[in-house]
Amino acid sequence: LEDKVLAGQRVLLTAGPTYEPIDTVRGITNISSGKMGYALARACRDAGAEVTLVSGPTGMAAPAGVRRVDVQSARDMQDAVLAEAARCDVFVAVAAVADYRVTNRSEHKLKKGDAPPVLELTENPDILATIASLPAAPFCVGFAAESRNLLEYADAKRRRKQVPLLVANLAQQAMGADDNEVVLLDDTGNHPLPAMPKRDVARAIVHHLAALLSKRAAP
Ligand code: C5P
Repeated sequence: LEDKVLAGQRVLLTAGPTYEPIDTVRGITNISSGKMGYALARACRDAGAEVTLVSGPTGMAAPAGVRRVDVQSARDMQDAVLAEAARCDVFVAVAAVADYRVTNRSEHKLKKGDAPPVLELTENPDILATIASLPAAPFCVGFAAESRNLLEYADAKRRRKQVPLLVANLAQQAMGADDNEVVLLDDTGNHPLPAMPKRDVARAIVHHLAALLSKRAAP
């Protein structure tokens, strides 16, 4: 980006899936390539921000100039985010966090001949909602991937999690793809963006975010 619209901002992002172990070799995860989160981390860096990326397992290389913290489970991700939250101005939650974790995980590999295991699941913390409700919360940006009723669900999610900016996309279109088509939801309404490469979507989000931040600084 020619203009350093996020100069002086410290941006914390989550990206990728989380992995919740069942035993030593198996687990529950979400479909997430990490492409959108990594593209946003790069766009924030290019806009002059100091960037920390808390990443689930993706197999993607850490972008140059971005500090990456690797995590596996949702709780690891929340711990890493909470450790950084006080030192950031903006938090962008792009990760596809597993909603449940296994509470009766096996310390050894489960053997196929045994009775099929019964998994006990418990709900994972909502990292975005946790950060958004901190007394000194950073400016929070959420993502919503839905398979239908996109704007209705996304708007409800923005209100429930109390985030000023939410990026909505159709899950079947966004997952793993190189392009994305999103709608930005904020206090002023819905702002649809055209379908374009994730790099360009990320840049557009950064510009929208920077405009909201400057409006907030000088209302
Ligand atoms: O509720 P849902 O998972 O659809 O919300 C999506 C948004 O919330 C994303 O920004 C995602 O990163 C964030 N989230 C989170 N922790 C969770 C679940 C979702 O930070 N446990």
